[in-house]
Amino acid sequence: MNENICLILKDQTVFFKSSEDMSELEDESIDVIITSPPYNRGKTYTSDTGEIHDDKMDEDEYLSFLTKIWEECYRVAKKSSIFFLNIGDSALDQGKSEKVAISAEKASWKRIQDVIWVKSFLGKGHYTPSGGTRRLNNLWEHLYLFVKDKNEYKIEPKSIGIPYTDKSNIGRYSDTDLRDPGNVWLIPYIKTTGATVKKGHEAPFPIGLPYKCIKLVPNVKTVLDPFGGTCSTLAACLILGVKGYAYEKYPRVEVIKSRILEGKEFQENEENLIPHLELSIKLLNNLLSDSSIQSPAIKSKAELNYYQILNNVLNNLNLDNSFKRSIQKRIEHFKKSLLLKREQENKYRQTKLDFKS
Ligand SMILES: C[S@@+](CC[C@H](N)C(=O)[O-])C[C@H]1O[C@@H](n2cnc3c(N)ncnc32)[C@H](O)[C@@H]1O
Repeated sequence: MNENICLILKDQTVFFKSSEDMSELEDESIDVIITSPPYNRGKTYTSDTGEIHDDKMDEDEYLSFLTKIWEECYRVAKKSSIFFLNIGDSALDQGKSEKVAISAEKASWKRIQDVIWVKSFLGKGHYTPSGGTRRLNNLWEHLYLFVKDKNEYKIEPKSIGIPYTDKSNIGRYSDTDLRDPGNVWLIPYIKTTGATVKKGHEAPFPIGLPYKCIKLVPNVKTVLDPFGGTCSTLAACLILGVKGYAYEKYPRVEVIKSRILEGKEFQENEENLIPHLELSIKLLNNLLSDSSIQSPAIKSKAELNYYQILNNVLNNLNLDNSFKRSIQKRIEHFKKSLLLKREQENKYRQTKLDFKS
């Protein structure tokens, strides 16, 4: 295929055309499909040449446009394939995601489960505070799981498993320290547009989302994203050594290239450590109780600020150890020295004044 209509980068292929026709792909050739379609919410998806996707279609037109693409997805999907469909609701179009899920069922996809992707939780993950006084911000989206054949597909929950909190369960339910992560996934949203960050796309999902989906399915060889956008899905394919295909009708080619290559730097995040939080705090407390560990001397007001924050954190965690006590001493000592310095300066100023008069 001509490079103007296709990009091939390290086993990842992007077709710059509408996914209404995916004739480049053979019937029953794809293991996993992951996508986030245009939400039809007036977003501006533009190509390098300035063409713009119509993101304000009449609802019926929008849903039948999607069904047409889900039918093409169904054609290229293997019998064992799994289709992860990501879509979120907004205050103005509550219930839209359910209609989108039905548009996939119309294309013969069987619905299996709804995973909730949490984009921000307890301050972790970006969102633009736009709720005002009429609603709360929406911090999660759907990730619907569809399959082509209910008898042919398989997932391996432990491949994205999380450790047991209660270690006595190892051996009782499995031999390893891994359990099913459940159907709520915290993958913090990273800010990609705005005054300081410009990646040239309205709505990329984090690479961690397709990464988790691909890992969940055993023996994946081929992945498809029919609404590629920046091609975050292909970045995840790159990390996992899987062949990826995407379609994007309004491509920003340099944005796509750099996004795919971001896969090289991707690191599994530490959100899975949450089940270990209590244990980690306990271990930390034990470590910091070793009296040979001392906090360093405070040398500036900025450092004083940091240590005061750290002290508050340790207080909030109800920790009491020798490290914390040494920080408190350092803080008191530095504050005293600041006070002393101020008194000496005042004295010096007063002596100068007395001398003048
Ligand atoms: C929500 S975005 C996908 C974002 C993507 N998940 C990412 O991480 O960057 C939907 C994309 O579908 C593209 N699109 C719209 N109509 C299309 C069509 N008929 N065929 C292929 N892509 C299309 C839009 O230009 C937009 O980039």
